[in-house]
Amino acid sequence: MSQPVLDSVIAALEKIRESTDRAPRASRTVLARLQSASSLTASLPATRNKTELLEPVRERVRVCTKCAHLACSRTQTVFGVGNPDADLMFIGEAPGIDEDQQGEPFVGRAGQLLTKILRAMNFAREDVYIANILKCRPDTPSGTFGNRAPTPTEMQTCRPYLVEQIEIIEPKVLVALGAVAVEGLLGMRGTMRDLRGRWHAYNGVPLMITYHPAYLLRNQAPSEKRKVWEDMLQVLERLDQPITERQRSYFL
Ligand code: URA
Repeated sequence: MSQPVLDSVIAALEKIRESTDRAPRASRTVLARLQSASSLTASLPATRNKTELLEPVRERVRVCTKCAHLACSRTQTVFGVGNPDADLMFIGEAPGIDEDQQGEPFVGRAGQLLTKILRAMNFAREDVYIANILKCRPDTPSGTFGNRAPTPTEMQTCRPYLVEQIEIIEPKVLVALGAVAVEGLLGMRGTMRDLRGRWHAYNGVPLMITYHPAYLLRNQAPSEKRKVWEDMLQVLERLDQPITERQRSYFL
């Protein structure tokens, strides 16, 4: 029984006992038991919610200088976004230029496509949690455009933060977006053709591997979109989410 409920039960019972015009409904023994349960509960540390638990991790990430070159080049770290109580968590590669500027993962073109995929699944960004393997944008030589992939050393250095995020959020299902996310999370290299579309596991959590939305931006073929969508249908099934006929037939 939670502390406020227990307190009000005890208060109500004591009031009844004290009043002369009503017969008491609880014996002294019951009252004593309730009181000792109440003081036991009060002595327990209050359970911290997941937002509170994520805060110190976010702060350590914010000031992290483990990759000195990235700490110098970043505008800011990009921790993660969404619902800390989410059942579903997406893992990407690393912030791009838009994410580095805005401090939020998946807000550029690839991010907008991810948001569309979520909508098609009947989710808002606020319903799920989104994070990356790397919390800093991989640096690029000045004057060049585009992104570079994180190095294995950068991924190994940053991975413990993601591990902490997953441990706190405890999602029911994880989705890794692209081969780099898979390598960062599982330390496993493979082709997306082999990896995607089937269930893997990370520490006992079901893990679906699918294409990164940036791949879909480069390959506009409906067949590729359908593959990602089939992966997301498997995710919805795993989460026991209802799936409409319209959803089943997307991109067919
Ligand atoms: N690509 C990623 O993998 N992560 C982002 O946050 C943005 C683009």
